[in-house]
Amino acid sequence: MASGNDKCRVFTTVSGKGGAGKSTVSCMLGVALARLGHRTLLIDADEGLRCLDLMLGVDGEVVFDLADVLAGRCEVGDAIRPVPAAKGLWLLPAPRSAGQIGEGLAPLIGTLREEFDRILVDSSAGIGQGFRTAAAVSDEVLAVVGCDPVSIRDARQVCELLRDITPSRRLMILNRFDYAAASRDLIPHVDAIIDATAMRLGGIIPYDPALARGFLRGTPVTRGHAWRAFVRVAHRLEGKNVRLPKLKRL
Ligand SMILES: Nc1ncnc2c1ncn2[C@@H]1O[C@H](COP(=O)(O)OP(=O)(O)O)[C@@H](O)[C@H]1O
Ligand SMILES: [Mg+2]
Repeated sequence: MASGNDKCRVFTTVSGKGGAGKSTVSCMLGVALARLGHRTLLIDADEGLRCLDLMLGVDGEVVFDLADVLAGRCEVGDAIRPVPAAKGLWLLPAPRSAGQIGEGLAPLIGTLREEFDRILVDSSAGIGQGFRTAAAVSDEVLAVVGCDPVSIRDARQVCELLRDITPSRRLMILNRFDYAAASRDLIPHVDAIIDATAMRLGGIIPYDPALARGFLRGTPVTRGHAWRAFVRVAHRLEGKNVRLPKLKRL
């Protein structure tokens, strides 16, 4: 829970199902929060499957990572890299192998609260120890949920587990929303998804293939439908009352 810099807020992205979009949401919200003027740190906690360094184009610069910091092999400042594509955004890369993140993450984040305004922790998929550790250190948990039945059922379970792990606010980010499929009733209605997951809606991100293309170049795409949806989520996280546009206009 909050300590040190009272201003700092820590968010963690979680999902039961892999590929739901946690890393995409973490990167894009990181860029959006940095653009709102917050010193923002992304922590890649998906140990063994690090990807944020590639997505943000800093893979060639990584010397030390989160495991090195936790094991005392380097100072945290030696591992954190500025993200060239986004002023005000930094990355702490993930360990190269699994099983490196443990009890040390909470005190480390306590220290980093002094240096940053916003911290986004990108966790590993599933409901194992990685999920628990990452969820426990956050002030707010962002559950990334796809519109398919498996994702929705997993999200319900994630939400129930979160209640036992942390009193933090839980927000659902409904990702890869496809209006064409929704209008033909091929996917559940948004209200039905909210009911089924028992979570508050933090935002709906449309399906947008440009997102993946941007990450292939190591440059987050800051235009288009998905980007505008991320900006709305960022504003909501900052307490602004931003209305959801009509689903057709997402
Ligand atoms: N809103 C979206 N529109 C289109 N593609 C998306 C969207 N969100 C995620 N993706 C794609 O889905 C894949 C998995 O996303 P990723 O963020 O790596 O998921 P996770 O971190 O949960 O495993 C990636 O190829 C990513 O580009
Ligand atoms: Mg990921």
